[in-house]
Amino acid sequence: MERNIAVVGVGYWGKNLVRDFYELGALHTICDVNQELGTQFKSQFSEIRSVESFDRLLNDPAIKAVVIATPAVHHYQMAKDALLAKKHVFVEKPLALKVDQGAELVKLAEQQNLILMVGHILQYHPALEKLKELIDRGDLGKIQYIYSNRLNIGKIRFEENILWSFAPHDISAILFLLNEMPETVCATGGSYLQAKIPDVTLTTMDFKSGVKSHIFVSWLHPFKEQKLVVVGDKKMAVFDDMSKGEIISLSS
Ligand SMILES: NC(=O)c1ccc[n+]([C@@H]2O[C@H](COP(=O)([O-])OP(=O)(O)OC[C@H]3O[C@@H](n4cnc5c(N)ncnc54)[C@H](O)[C@@H]3O)[C@@H](O)[C@H]2O)c1
Repeated sequence: MERNIAVVGVGYWGKNLVRDFYELGALHTICDVNQELGTQFKSQFSEIRSVESFDRLLNDPAIKAVVIATPAVHHYQMAKDALLAKKHVFVEKPLALKVDQGAELVKLAEQQNLILMVGHILQYHPALEKLKELIDRGDLGKIQYIYSNRLNIGKIRFEENILWSFAPHDISAILFLLNEMPETVCATGGSYLQAKIPDVTLTTMDFKSGVKSHIFVSWLHPFKEQKLVVVGDKKMAVFDDMSKGEIISLSS
């Protein structure tokens, strides 16, 4: 494999992407404004280049794709700059913090004939793929209701709220399972730790097929729970990502 990918933002999550692209033999450069992190990675992966300036990556013809794992507030501008510099883009969720910015990026990628992919990692979870197979085969019957809880204590963010931080996983999973876009969406939340940054949100989505759903996310919750429940008219399925035993269980 050719080494032509750069990872930008090598913090808490970006380090996983660095490891994976390195192991695939595709990593060319890492970029972080925090020089210490660059030095740390350089000692681990000596053949990888480390730079602090994003612009340097964009001007480098050896880089064909950019992986963005900086805080969410930077995603829109960095993805846009990378697409305009003719680089394919993998951007961590959320794609952007405003709907029109997200739509603009999708359009730009289409115009430039470039790949724009968002890190909706849950869609590739084997258990979710299995659940989709069960739904598509009709094993659960007609789907009536889906809900997803993603609850934990931390990791509290300062630049984005809990909806942007956690719910993209659940929204992408539900849309993937139903293969349908919602007709109505309603979200409410509460800010307790920081002004105007909700720590807890409840989102409901109603679909034309009659399916109703809700997503409950919180980083201010006494225990960790990651559970997605699908209620069909024949069977019900639970995908428990924290389970030490069966990850998917079925009941009639
Ligand atoms: N898919 C998942 O399960 C998952 C899990 C955690 C985080 N994430 C996503 O990953 C992204 C990063 O989150 P995190 O927890 O790693 O944050 P973080 O703060 O730990 O890391 C972000 C890094 O980006 C660097 N950075 C900031 N501005 C920069 C710039 N202009 N140029 C270069 N580097 C810059 C910071 O120095 C830092 O090292 C977020 O979008 C988050 O939603 C995804």
